[in-house]
Parts: sequence; C-alpha cells; structure tokens
Amino acid sequence: MESPGAAGAAETRSHRLAVIGGDGIGPEVTAAALTVLDAAEARFGFTTERTDVPLGADNYLDTGELLTPEAVELLRGHDTILFGAIGSPRVTPGILERGVILALRAELRQAINLRPVRLYPGVPTPIAGLTPERCDLVVVRENSEGSYVGGGSTVHRGTPGAVATQGSTNTWYAVHRAVDFAFRLAQQRRRRVTLCHKTNVLVEAGALWSDVVEEVAARFPDVEHDYVHVDAMCMHLPVSPERFDVVVTDNLFGDIITDLGAVLQGGLGVAASGNLNLDGSAPSMFEPVHGSAPDIAGRGWANPAGAALSLALCLASLGEGDAAAAVESATARVLAELPELSGAGMGGSTAELGERIAAAVQDSGEGVQSSLMTQLAAVQAGLRD
Ligand code: NAD
Ligand code: IPM
Ligand code: MN
Repeated sequence: MESPGAAGAAETRSHRLAVIGGDGIGPEVTAAALTVLDAAEARFGFTTERTDVPLGADNYLDTGELLTPEAVELLRGHDTILFGAIGSPRVTPGILERGVILALRAELRQAINLRPVRLYPGVPTPIAGLTPERCDLVVVRENSEGSYVGGGSTVHRGTPGAVATQGSTNTWYAVHRAVDFAFRLAQQRRRRVTLCHKTNVLVEAGALWSDVVEEVAARFPDVEHDYVHVDAMCMHLPVSPERFDVVVTDNLFGDIITDLGAVLQGGLGVAASGNLNLDGSAPSMFEPVHGSAPDIAGRGWANPAGAALSLALCLASLGEGDAAAAVESATARVLAELPELSGAGMGGSTAELGERIAAAVQDSGEGVQSSLMTQLAAVQAGLRD
C-alpha cells in the first residue's frame, strides 16, 4: 500500500489526541504505544497534538474528583482518546471503574466496544493445537447498558439480613445500535453474526436481544446468523473459534468472554479494544482489554502489544489506514519473536518492546495484513452516509 505522506504531501494531517494513562501498568503500556505512534507519524506523514489527561487513582486521592464536567469538555475537544487502564488497590473497587471508565463510555456515547480476537502467526497460545487460520473473530460488545447501568440497592450490609439487588437495563435502542453494527461489520467480513446471550434464563433481556437480531437480520439477507448461550460460548471459543466471525453480545457477557478471547491470542497483554462513538458526536476511545495489573506494575513486565494494537484501531478510525496496518503488522512481528508474552521472560521491558515495535513500524518488512482496519473504516463511513 502507498503511504500517504511518503511522496511529500503538501499538507500535513494532524489529529488531536487525548491520552489517559491511568493507573498501574496503564501509563507504562500507553507510553510504549506513544513511542510506536511517533514512528508511525514519522513514516506516514501525519502529526498528533497530544494532551495528557490525569484521571485515575492519584487524581482521585488528591482531589476527591472522578470524571468532572471540565474533563469531559476537554476530551470532547479531541479527535480521539488513548486510554491505559484504571483501578487501584488504594481505592475501593468500583469507584474508579464506574466513576471514570464507565462514565467516559457513557458521556462520550461510545455505543459499542469492539474487541478483536485474532491469533497472529508465531505467537504462542495456551490453547493446544490452535492456529492463526482458525482464530480471527470480532466481539461487538454492547457498551452502554445491561447490568452495568441497571442500578441496585443494599440493605443491612454486613449482617446476615443483608439484601442486595442489582438490575439490568436493556433498551431496544442500544441493543439495535450494537446489532446493526455487528451485521454491518459481518458484511465486510465472513458474513456471519452470532448472538451470545443467556436467553434460557434471562428471558426478558434475552427476548429483546433475539427480537432485535431477527429484525436486523431481515435487512441483511446476505449475512447468516445463529445463537450461542454464553456458558456454551466459554467452551466453543477455545475449542472451535473458527465457527465465529462477528459475535454480538451484552455488556457483561462481552466483558467476560473477551478475557477468554485474550487467552486465545496469547494472553491478556495482547488483546485490544475500541470504544466506538458511532454518531460522530464525541471521540472514540481505544484501550487494551487488560486492567491496571497492580501485581506487575512498576517492573517493566507488562506487554504493550494490547496498547499498540489499540493504537492501530485508533489510527484506522482516524482514517490513517496505512499507519494502522503498519502498526498492527509491526506488533504482530515483534510478538512472534518474544520468548514469553509477559513478565521477566518477555525478552525486554515494556518500554523496550515499545521501541522494538516502533522500529518495526519504520521498516516496511513483511508482516500480517489485517482486514479489520479497513473493515472498521468502511463500517464507519457507511454509518455516516
Ligand atoms: P488485570 O487485567 O489488571 O490483570 C489480570 C492478570 O493479567 C494479572 O496477573 C496481570 O499481571 C496480567 N496482565 C494484565 N495485563 C497485562 C499485560 N499487559 N502484560 C502482562 N500481563 C498482564 O485484571 P485484574 O487484576 O482483575 O484487575 C486489576 C485492576 O484493574 C482492578 O482495579 C480492575 O478493576 C481494573 N481493571 C481495569 C480495566 C480497564 O481500565 N479497562 C480493565 C480490567 C480491570
Ligand atoms: C474492561 C474492564 C471494565 C469493564 C471495568 C474496569 C469497568 O473490565 O474494560 O474490560 O468491565 O468494562
Ligand atoms: Mn474486562
């Protein structure tokens, strides 16, 4: 592919990028991804104006603030967002996760969370016998509701009389938005959508999801669809991932099955995601699937591949398709060279791996070519027509 900037384009494209490193290994993997971005900019002739946005445990413990209206406005003034991870043993679970990530996804109308599950050639997977040809699917996770916004209440906490309720919200609007995206994406791929739910127990939400899938499927006669319960999905995913192309699912199920999906790809350090705003009303946000990993923070043991592959998705959504393909390809090449995919045996620190991926971006050697980057751009363009 031609690189847009290589011939000395008259005008330089510039993108406003907000960077939220967050907590634990979040800033470490994000810094490595930014090294990769430097290389992509140099090779493909675009620039970014970067703004650091200090959200996370330190900010919360210093100021008592989570996501302020001012921070939301600041982020809205950007074209895109790179996010590391949030969560800290110093803060009660749920405060930062709900108060920052979930709040951001909601405020910025990031309707779906796109999570590719792809095993790159030469990358060791813990799943015996799995090959790259058999593992290339995408999970479209509904990103705004389900049990993440169902509300709840507790009485008599800490006593044997404790009662906790936790609801789940499911609207036709949000489910339709996710299912419609899944079918559009499948149309660009192997033309198969699988609904993953628990319709045999969650009969109310399950019926809404099934109804919407049938309704949308009628508009896409060229796309096949089927259904798998989420418990069975946990068996099928490692054993026969080749049966899936696009999996569309509820927020909580999508969270859970994509950590399993990460394992197929080699581990949590490898999996990428994009929280996509589909209507252009606010920036999308790209983050690795993993969390802040306090157990390895500060040691240089975190694999930055998930962050780098999230950068590739970010570049694709900005229209920098050649840079996106180069970053994905470079990350896959470096991954295939690593003796281990995390920890002390990775063959380099987080920062060093960032530099190696950056160097691989600059030389145009052979690598994997993914179509997901172009598929994403095509679906986004279709939605804006
Ligand atoms: P985690 O994903 O942070 O870690 C799970 C395991 O995977 C750990 O052993 C960790 O060392 C390992 N791991 C994670 N990322 C890795 C990487 N890049 N390279 C190598 N190994 C990696 O999940 P957790 O331990 O359940 O959660 C820790 C904190 O992160 C919690 O506060 C949680 O709420 C938060 N969290 C945040 C996000 C996010 O910001 N998007 C996602 C998941 C969890
Ligand atoms: C993820 C995380 C988040 C989620 C948490 C930290 C709110 O697990 O991005 O996968 O559940 O979506
Ligand atoms: Mn998760």
